[in-house]
Amino acid sequence: MESKEYPAKLTTFVVLTCLVAATGGLIVGYDIGISSGVTSMNPFLKKFFPSVYIKEKLNQSSNQYCTFDSQILTTFTSSLYLAALVASFFASSVTRIFGRRWSMFAGGVSFLVGAALNGAAQDVFMLIFGRILLGIGVGFIGQSVPLYLSEMAPAKLRGMLNITCQLLVTIGIFSANLINYGISKIEAGWGWRLSLALAAVPASVITIGSLFLPDTPNSLIERGHDEKAKEILRKIRGTDEILEEYSDLVTAGQVSKQMRHPWINIMKRKYRPHLTMAILIPFFQQLTGINVIMFYAPVLFKTLGFGNNTSLMSAVIIGLVNVCATFVSIGTVDRLGRRLLFLQGGFQMLACQIILGTLIAIKFGTTGEGTIPRTYAAFMVLFICIYVAGFAWSWGPLGGTLVPSEIFPLEIRSAGQSITVSVNMLFTFVVAQTFLPMLCHFKFGLFYFFAGWVLVMTIFIALFLPETKNVPIEKMILVWKAHWFWNNFVSDKNEHVAPTRWPQYDLLQTHFIQ
Ligand code: BGC
Repeated sequence: MESKEYPAKLTTFVVLTCLVAATGGLIVGYDIGISSGVTSMNPFLKKFFPSVYIKEKLNQSSNQYCTFDSQILTTFTSSLYLAALVASFFASSVTRIFGRRWSMFAGGVSFLVGAALNGAAQDVFMLIFGRILLGIGVGFIGQSVPLYLSEMAPAKLRGMLNITCQLLVTIGIFSANLINYGISKIEAGWGWRLSLALAAVPASVITIGSLFLPDTPNSLIERGHDEKAKEILRKIRGTDEILEEYSDLVTAGQVSKQMRHPWINIMKRKYRPHLTMAILIPFFQQLTGINVIMFYAPVLFKTLGFGNNTSLMSAVIIGLVNVCATFVSIGTVDRLGRRLLFLQGGFQMLACQIILGTLIAIKFGTTGEGTIPRTYAAFMVLFICIYVAGFAWSWGPLGGTLVPSEIFPLEIRSAGQSITVSVNMLFTFVVAQTFLPMLCHFKFGLFYFFAGWVLVMTIFIALFLPETKNVPIEKMILVWKAHWFWNNFVSDKNEHVAPTRWPQYDLLQTHFIQ
């Protein structure tokens, strides 16, 4: 068997289309970042959650671990994630039957209406309804954009192009933090409307953009538009030598067309490795504890004795670290591979969580009483930043979009991606909902709790995740077949593409396959 790759250049066309699609990430990030700031603005609380406002004003407790705990507010934040969870299942059918771009369009429209309702909200009903529409948008975008990017990209650059979506998620979070910081200075009391309505800007880009985007060759073939697929493949690869890739896509398309019920099929034994990853990767990603920082950084810093202004400022710093560290992933993922980043990032997060838990234990002990001197606080921010950086070049991009979107064969890709998004949303919801009560009960031990999970997931990656860098997406089956454990599930008769080889397949054999 000779070793080879499909011919492909990095064309301007593919870069542009991927950039437009990735703007979906911008609005997902904006929604993650905006609510923590808005829910700490007094005019917003007074209007929609007066009881929470009064409770916060009356709160005299000196136990730092238990100061902030308002379930209604967390429920407002979390309604988005529940809506996204449900929506991603519907998105699966739209993505498969009508193509990737119509799911992106549906997500964009839902975002637009949601942002308008939120910005103009007169009562809690409008507010929550708007937030649910934003959630539906997140479900559709989260389901379709990663697939789109992984299918458009040439194998050698798939990591880089796919991670632009996560990069835009981090830019979205960062912009939201900045806007919250700026708006907290507006005295007039309507600042929160601006924060919420501004989500319409990125929403317009993805809505209009998706109307002009071509669909992926994989999806076109799956839906019977073979000639159009050939034309797009030529354009995105920048060469006429596409026949080999095209014929692999056609083979994958045929298998997919025969499969009427992807949801039943994904339960078959031969898809066990895919199903395991679809569930465990997003589950583990949320159990890193990242959203404790993303959602609660201002609250956490307030708890640690920072003033209101410095709390928001620190959230801005963390947002910036998140963006910058994602570039490290973009620059290295197709050379160093997915496993190395996962493992290195895991160790970095683990060390930081142990240090942070210990620093908090020393100052607040189990009673939660105490104050933190300035330099001590600065150290804590530093370790939070190192932790966020570790996440941002490993579990963030790899667990969020890249690995789940590249490992499924075409026939179960759409369903698999929906599972990934739903599990992500479910555990984002669980972490958001339980963090404040957990902090109150586990105290500093909460950091050790997340550290324990990071250890488990790092061992899981070391043992069970095969390397997928540079492997053409429709040939991924060979990677599972070469794995010491998963080869028990994926047998020869399940292979539906020509068994071509390429360099790191041999590397896999030599390094970590028994
Ligand atoms: C995660 C989000 C998280 C974000 C932080 C994403 O990959 O899915 O839950 O807030 O990264 O950058």
